[in-house]
Amino acid sequence: MRITINQIKEMKRKGEKITMLTAYDYATAKIVDEVGIPLILVGDSLGMVVLGYESTIPVTMEEMLHHTGAVVRATKQAMVIGDMPFMTYHISNSDALHNAARFIQEGGAQAVKLEGGVTVAEKVSRIVECGIPVMGHIGLTPQSIYQLGGFTVQGKTLEAATKLLEDARTLEQAGAFAIVLETVPAQLATLITQRIGIPTIGIGAGVGCDGQVQVINDILGSFTDFVPKHAKQYIKLTDIIRTAVAEYDNEVKSGSFPTDQQSFSMDESILAELKGEAIDKSNKILEIAELKCRESGAVAYPDFGREGWSAPTIKRILLNNGYECHEGRHSSEWWGLCSYQKRKTHFHKKEE
Ligand code: KIV
Repeated sequence: MRITINQIKEMKRKGEKITMLTAYDYATAKIVDEVGIPLILVGDSLGMVVLGYESTIPVTMEEMLHHTGAVVRATKQAMVIGDMPFMTYHISNSDALHNAARFIQEGGAQAVKLEGGVTVAEKVSRIVECGIPVMGHIGLTPQSIYQLGGFTVQGKTLEAATKLLEDARTLEQAGAFAIVLETVPAQLATLITQRIGIPTIGIGAGVGCDGQVQVINDILGSFTDFVPKHAKQYIKLTDIIRTAVAEYDNEVKSGSFPTDQQSFSMDESILAELKGEAIDKSNKILEIAELKCRESGAVAYPDFGREGWSAPTIKRILLNNGYECHEGRHSSEWWGLCSYQKRKTHFHKKEE
């Protein structure tokens, strides 16, 4: 059973910190879920860190659904939140509802996130009324980057801080189950956290929030076009990947990759046939068999020596050329005379 919005709200009541991370693909989401992160956001930051756009603005519903599906398939416990892209919830309530529903029905997410406060409150309540949990997002809202004038700290003036507080309260009243506070002064984030009953999840908003969210590529150091001030790199994956890729490149060029361990082989006899060596090999096998049978009445695998011939090859050639195969021990009079009596498999010429 996945984490529910009630469990998330309960974490705030108990003072338990809430961890949230973004994920965009199956392999990464699986690890995040296995670690036990309760909230996974398929953020529209996907546009920048996965798809290489300059901002989140070009991201489409189709792209978001594509990645949401992968994250949902990878996870068992986390609540997966689909981030509604630019202009998919602004035009009308019915648009907002329709697109939120697509995240749930087509993407398999359990909740959606949308940016904005008072201006989107009506949409939030319509979506919530229809049974879809909504996470709000205020402060630095990257979809409004042109209006905001850049990736700058929000809520520093009295007017802006008052507005953010009002946005947070309005989202709570509209039914949001949690709110992301992005790039706002730590003191303001703490105040908002104390003034509302639903959890705040901070990103560049200080330690006073109920939880924290980060873009996974930022904490792994796997996206280095720019590293936001709020991000801590727990590892520098780009360096590790670069070293591995260069090593692979060298090994391919020098011929030391792949080894037998990474290769597959085929039956020697098939290969011989493919190369046209089969006739030579057959003749040699039949020559040895003929000689052995003349000497002692039968021929067995060891008589063919160590010529690199597989037992199935020898058997196939002998059976196709007038020999009979005897599996197991034989006690018949004829075989009693034969020196191969103790051998499990031997061949002799069929009687005409
Ligand atoms: O798109 C995203 O990754 C986000 C987080 C930064 C909260 O909205």
